Amino acid sequence: MNPAPFIPEAASTFAVQYDYLFWFFMLVAGAAGVVTFAVGAYFVVRYRRGTGRYVKPNGHDHTWIEVAWSMPVLFVVAILFVWGARLYVDAYTYPEDATEIFVTGKQWMWKVQHPNGKREINELHLPVDTPIKLTMTSEDVIHSFYIPAFRTKRDVLPGRYTQLWFEPTKEGEYHLFCAEYCGTEHSRMVGKIYVMRQDDYQEWIAGSEVIVSMKDKGRELFEKNACNSCHEGEAAAAPSLAGTFGSPRTLADGQTVYADETYIRESILTPNAKLVRGFGAVMPTYKGQIDEDGLNQLVAYIKSLKADRKDQAMLTEADRRQEENR
Ligand code: CUA
Repeated sequence: MNPAPFIPEAASTFAVQYDYLFWFFMLVAGAAGVVTFAVGAYFVVRYRRGTGRYVKPNGHDHTWIEVAWSMPVLFVVAILFVWGARLYVDAYTYPEDATEIFVTGKQWMWKVQHPNGKREINELHLPVDTPIKLTMTSEDVIHSFYIPAFRTKRDVLPGRYTQLWFEPTKEGEYHLFCAEYCGTEHSRMVGKIYVMRQDDYQEWIAGSEVIVSMKDKGRELFEKNACNSCHEGEAAAAPSLAGTFGSPRTLADGQTVYADETYIRESILTPNAKLVRGFGAVMPTYKGQIDEDGLNQLVAYIKSLKADRKDQAMLTEADRRQEENR
């Protein structure tokens, strides 16, 4: 149902929930506006000069009037708060089983890479009724990834990753916009979202061309840059990366950080910024040698590495304790 022509179609689970809140808010704001103006207009007419009903302000407060009008308002605002907060938490809690797609913003285009390695530009093909998680970064300035039909938008920043999730509920074609002024052709940094039937999507994603998955491309880069010479093997000079992703890392200064996409990225570009305890500052920076696509592929590869028994032996003491507590 589309109650107003200027409201985009609601094509994700979040969009439907968001619209209920939006219309509830419009109702509350509309009712408050009507009541305020009606009372104002009534007083203006009734107590106008010349009617003899003009009353000078006497400076007295009426506590019961104050309480009587502010309590219902507090109640309504509390509903808005709780409702909005729940939607917000939902939008920022990424489902475990979501399909992860990498998005890179660049003046002035959107580059997309699917887990199996398939790429697109200014287009994003998605299966219907499937939770999707986007991991996004920018090659230059701040952009903002915005799909009105999904009621979802998140800034895309250079030098770090932001994430966004949604579940498309309707097949069709939807607008994709850049919603952050990013230079001359900002207004042309647009694209299309195609939500497809699941089997059509499977066919599309398999495609005809030979493609290498992101994770395998990441592995290739890993070997090409000889990362494995330090990060793998018995006498490893650097921490094993198996099971790193999503786990806490104890740093040289005793701090604990959580190994997410941004941490992995930073460790490649500025290796000495957060040294894992027990390891020296021996890793060179790869800044300028690996592009954003490559970094995304490395992140995808490192994410795919599960902790195995042999690698467990090389985890730091803190990691081991963490594992035991699980
Ligand atoms: Cu990218 Cu505006």
